[in-house]
Amino acid sequence: MNESDEQGNSGDVHEERQPVHEPVLLSQTLQVLELQAGLVVVDGTVGAAGHAVEIAKAIGPGGLVVGLDRDEEILDVARVALMGVRATGAAAGFSLHHSPHARLREVLAEVGQPRCDRVLLDLGVSSLQLDRPERGFSFMADGPLDMRMDAGAPESAADWLATVGERELADTIYQLGEERHSRRIARRIVEARRRAPIVRTGQLADLVVQALPPAARHGRIHPATRTFQAIRMAVNDELGELERGLQAAFDCLAPGGRLAVISFHSIEDRVVKHFLRQHGRVVTKKPIVATPVEIRRNPRARSAKLRCAIKAEVAA
Ligand SMILES: C[S@@+](CC[C@H](N)C(=O)[O-])C[C@H]1O[C@@H](n2cnc3c(N)ncnc32)[C@H](O)[C@@H]1O
Repeated sequence: MNESDEQGNSGDVHEERQPVHEPVLLSQTLQVLELQAGLVVVDGTVGAAGHAVEIAKAIGPGGLVVGLDRDEEILDVARVALMGVRATGAAAGFSLHHSPHARLREVLAEVGQPRCDRVLLDLGVSSLQLDRPERGFSFMADGPLDMRMDAGAPESAADWLATVGERELADTIYQLGEERHSRRIARRIVEARRRAPIVRTGQLADLVVQALPPAARHGRIHPATRTFQAIRMAVNDELGELERGLQAAFDCLAPGGRLAVISFHSIEDRVVKHFLRQHGRVVTKKPIVATPVEIRRNPRARSAKLRCAIKAEVAA
């Protein structure tokens, strides 16, 4: 959670200051999902289960929350939270899976559910991931240049940066980071890697700062924010994952079921908007955004956009 909004402002920098994970647009998400007792609800990006816990309460003991995450470690956090609320006797059962949301069909088959009633996707990276320097997402604290959401994925950010061509690197930083100094940054990275491999987040952050003209080094956000965001999105193929995840969600939803998506990046929001228009009946004519009160409490919410659509009922 974490990316640039339409003005090129980044949510990442705020998340860096956010010590505890707080679910974004929580009440609005619960509302658009129209939760009822006994539903089967998929949280395709369960993370720390901030949303999932409230969903579990809303659908009650007869319901089921199926949670997926690419990050196996974070599922332990989700498990503790969901077990806690389940123990009250007032919340749904749950089933957690280390899986990309694109594999939703297979996961539902594993739990014996051919269909689900609701799907939530809350995109991007969790503050729990950002807060751990050893995961390599942060430019604020030095760590290995990793950035993999799934620690078992084959290519880290360091691996990717070692081989990517200068043109592709510049295009990635421009498109996914909305960074107008992308060419200078890509040139600097490619020159530096000829001397020594770039393997630490601190090294990369320094290179970005050095590449920028002096006037661009002291903005409202850290100067490496956009470059880190772009590299993270490329390493994790976040746009490809989003397209596959949206399709999987709609394939698995029962007719009349609802898909809600929270995005933090203008490109992602565009993908979501077009997909929902093409495949469902959109219930959010305009994206739902956070109130000033939520943004003050949780600055990460500033770039969040929530959209929701209903899968068409089959004609009689
Ligand atoms: C913004 S956090 C979700 C936070 C969660 N809604 C909460 O309230 O605690 C996004 C989570 O999605 C996971 N994720 C990102 N892309 C994914 C994908 N393609 N499939 C499954 N999980 C993914 C990340 O690992 C991260 O834990």
